[in-house]
Amino acid sequence: MLQIGLIGYGTVGSGVYERLTTTKEAVQQLLGQEFEIKAILVKDRQKKRTENVETVVTTEWQEFCELAQYDVIFEAIGGIEPAFSYTTHWLEKGIPVITANKKLVAEKGAELEKAAEVNGTYYGYEAAVAGGVPIINALKGNLATTPISRVSGILNGTTNYMLTEMIENHRSFADVLFEAKELGYAEADPTDDLEGFDAWYKIRILSRLCFGEWPTVEAYLRQGISEIEDWHVEVGEKIGFKLKLIGEAWYDGEKVVGAVRPAFLSQNEPLANVRGVTNGISLEGSTINQLLFIGPGAGKEATANSMVEDYLFHQRTTILSSIALRKEKGEEPFSHALLFI
Ligand code: NAP
Ligand code: HSE
Repeated sequence: MLQIGLIGYGTVGSGVYERLTTTKEAVQQLLGQEFEIKAILVKDRQKKRTENVETVVTTEWQEFCELAQYDVIFEAIGGIEPAFSYTTHWLEKGIPVITANKKLVAEKGAELEKAAEVNGTYYGYEAAVAGGVPIINALKGNLATTPISRVSGILNGTTNYMLTEMIENHRSFADVLFEAKELGYAEADPTDDLEGFDAWYKIRILSRLCFGEWPTVEAYLRQGISEIEDWHVEVGEKIGFKLKLIGEAWYDGEKVVGAVRPAFLSQNEPLANVRGVTNGISLEGSTINQLLFIGPGAGKEATANSMVEDYLFHQRTTILSSIALRKEKGEEPFSHALLFI
């Protein structure tokens, strides 16, 4: 029986629990064994927990450690500490850790990847960039040797949702920020979203995968959306440009540099039409011309899906079984509004 530990049971952690339990049969078939979510570690002892969770929930790290012989840990608490110490603890024991914590990956990814490597295990951070969009494993896998000259994207769902609502529905900054928090898109401290930190962590992670090394922080500018005023939006609309928070990194001939900043995009730029909580990533290179990845950038289900798939992708030995499982479940195709002539 495979034993799973969950650190954090907020928007993402509860999503991982639900994703694992609602697709249990398929996941077990893919893993080739049964699994059990043995324990959940949370922080706040006073918080009323109404969820119907058939797992021990504890606020004690020591107790959590002693509750099982874990085979994998899903970390969804955010921030550097204690997430860094917890992650190091498991990786040093050779136990894979799957995370959605982009701040930790951007700041400590080099050390944690090294810890995983020397201990023969896996540090998975697919969900740390662009929520449900599988860009990380694409860059590590199918695109591992593809030359990339520039990576750019809308990497923060909260601010893209806010800008879209402010521009299209003339809603106030405060009103849409409140809604983004309610929907579970925003960080625990939304300053991370608004001041561009979240997108800055993500572009640094993408940069490491596109250009082969962890970037120096000083080479990456950061500006958020808090200084955007109504007239910026109005002028942009009048001249047919969309205001977006863009993260980008490119090779300047000597070194890799990058920035996160608001930018006006012309209507024919593919990223100009990426609306709401959706994220979009563009990869440019001599052999690929331009590749686009577009999908949900935040939210419970999409992010949890990425975390579970990240683990399964690492674990499984064949993709054929997962294709068979998907057919078996008879999933409906996504419906498009197509006009045929
Ligand atoms: P959240 O809703 O605030 O949940 C955080 C969870 O972590 C809570 O259960 C909290 O415990 C627990 N926690 C916090 N500090 C802890 C500690 N020191 N020890 C043990 N447990 C602790 O946050 P979230 O939105 O799920 O985000 C979690 C991570 O996923 C962050 O790194 C975030 O950047 C990333 N992420 C989020 C999204 C999204 O759409 N929300 C998407 C992609 C990535 P209590 O329940 O006791 O408060
Ligand atoms: N707060 C983040 C966002 C969550 O809005 O994009 C997903 O990483």
